[in-house]
Amino acid sequence: MTEPLVLGIETSCDETGVGVVRGHTLLGDALASSVDEHARFGGVVPEVASRAHLEAIVPTMQRALDDAGVTLADIDAIAVTAGPGLAGALLVGVAAAKGYALAAEKPIYGVNHLAAHVAVDTLEHGPLPEPAIALLVSGGHSSLLLVDDLAAGVTPLGATIDDAAGEAFDKVARLLGLPFPGGPPIDRAAREGDGASIVFPRGLTAPKDLARHRFDFSFSGLKTAVARWVEARERMGEPVPVAHVAASFQEAVCDVLTAKAIDACRERGVETLVIGGGVAANSRLRALAEERCAKYGITVRVPRPKLCTDNGAMVAALGSHLVAAGVAPSRLDLPADSAMPLTTVSV
Ligand code: KG4
Ligand code: ZN
Repeated sequence: MTEPLVLGIETSCDETGVGVVRGHTLLGDALASSVDEHARFGGVVPEVASRAHLEAIVPTMQRALDDAGVTLADIDAIAVTAGPGLAGALLVGVAAAKGYALAAEKPIYGVNHLAAHVAVDTLEHGPLPEPAIALLVSGGHSSLLLVDDLAAGVTPLGATIDDAAGEAFDKVARLLGLPFPGGPPIDRAAREGDGASIVFPRGLTAPKDLARHRFDFSFSGLKTAVARWVEARERMGEPVPVAHVAASFQEAVCDVLTAKAIDACRERGVETLVIGGGVAANSRLRALAEERCAKYGITVRVPRPKLCTDNGAMVAALGSHLVAAGVAPSRLDLPADSAMPLTTVSV
């Protein structure tokens, strides 16, 4: 029996994404980004994002279907990000998904964006062994999760108590005069720098913090430390060594993320670590995770960078997983929930 053909729609932030998946195979993928429209504001402007989704959703849908070589009639189920994310942006995707589901008489699955960042790895590496530990690092979230059964829910072990990892990259890039979003330019600049040249703080790693926040993260102190360091240089009239600052900041983030993820795997006796979200595209994070996990016999799974940042394929991948697990579809009047908790995989 052929596996169901699932279409996924993503509009939670600034990317309009549509993907088509059969089982664990990605058949078609299309993306339209409004990132250039937000760049001059240094962050995503919700109204601008919503308008861009509205303009992009129909053509992006068509491109993804064409890319997969199928029509809407061939699709067995439609999955859509129902949350968390920007309320107005989510609404565009959810309304579009409902329209397509109603018109083509297809079941609809309203799914969690963060669970989709975990599920997307199945398109690259096949079924996820459970239990697994997931490190989810994006512009809005940084969490460590225990994944016992992705179709039913995940168990949060820890999260950031202030800034998300991606947010820290974006803020530090801004103060180094690098463009938005800050992850990719910091990643590039860091290749020319020495990550050991400046020792920046590692948040929530001191013994007194570990007692209460063993699996939590904090990046706001790091961001402030970088700002103070850069200011001191400027005050002395000295040039800021952008590559060294970028590399040392990146090293601090990646050190903490990998150390805590491995600690979670060891504490739970779990042998698989999956990393997802936009920051998982970071080259140093990928290399350091590989290097450190190898020492502990932990298998690390990170999808290719294009699948780490927001896209439609990740939503289709989670939808496909839910259909295969026999999870019931959502109601056609499903709401968009900008604050959907991590524990809700589908509504
Ligand atoms: O998952 P994502 O595309 O959107 C959210 O759900 O937030 O993540 C976007 C975040 C941004 O903060 C961006 O700077 C960061 O991911 N990012 C990176 C890299 N590529 C994107 N951070 C570090 N290194 C990268 N190569
Ligand atoms: Zn995301």
